[in-house]
Amino acid sequence: MKMLIAPSILSADFARLGQEIQAVEKAGADWIHVDVMDGHFVPNITLGPITVAAARKVTSLPLDVHLMITDPDQFIPEFAKAGADLISVHAETCVHLHRTVELIRSHGCRPGVVLNPATPLGALDWILDQLDFVLLMSVNPGFGGQSFIDSALEKILVLKQTIVRQGLSTLIQVDGGVNQQTIGKIAAAGTDVFVAGSAIFGSPDYAQTISGFKGAIAGISSPAASN
Ligand code: DX5
Ligand code: ZN
Repeated sequence: MKMLIAPSILSADFARLGQEIQAVEKAGADWIHVDVMDGHFVPNITLGPITVAAARKVTSLPLDVHLMITDPDQFIPEFAKAGADLISVHAETCVHLHRTVELIRSHGCRPGVVLNPATPLGALDWILDQLDFVLLMSVNPGFGGQSFIDSALEKILVLKQTIVRQGLSTLIQVDGGVNQQTIGKIAAAGTDVFVAGSAIFGSPDYAQTISGFKGAIAGISSPAASN
C-alpha cells in the first residue's frame, strides 16, 4: 500500500498561498490538507470555501478538507462546490453521522470521519464500512506545531487491525505532530496518509523534507497489515 503525504496549508505563508501549494505539489505532496476552523468547535478561526476555490485553481492534487466546525452539514455543499475532493467531519460534531457521511458522498466527495485524541474508536462502529478514510487526531485540534500524543499509536494499531479483520480498504490518516522524528513509528502502527503542517512549511526545502518523510516510511508495513 502506498503511503501518502498531505501537507497542511495551515502552516503555509497565506500571503503567498498559491505559490506555497504549487511548491509542495512540486516537492512530492500527494494531497493538500485544508484545515477549516470556526472558533466554536476549536479555539481558532482559519479559512472557508473561498480558500478551497482559490486552491482549486492552482493545483490538480486532491484537496482534503478537514472540517473542525459545528454543524458541518450546513457547509458541505459549499466546500464540495468549491472543489474539495475529500471531506472529513469530526464525530464529535455530528448528531446524525451516517446522514452527514451520505451528504458528503452525494456531493461527489470522498467521506472521512475524524476522532479527537480522547474519542474512542467505538464512535466508528456502524459507520466504518461507509468511509473512504478515518482521520485520527494525534494532537487536540486547533493549532499547528503541537507535539504528537503517543497514545495515538495504539489507537492506529487497533483501528488497522479492525480494518484488516473486516476486509475493508479504508485509509487511516493521522494529523498532528508528524515530523521526521515521529513519522517512522506512526507508519509502523498502520498509517496510510500523513498530514504535516509545520514540519513541511517550516522547513527550508520542501522537497528534501517530503523525500525525507518518504525515505523514513519506505519499506515499513504495519504488523496488522500483514495478518
Ligand atoms: C490541527 C490541524 C492540523 C495541523 C497540523 O488542528 O488539524 O492539520 O495543521 O499541524 P502540525 O503538522 O504542525 O502538527
Ligand atoms: Zn487537519
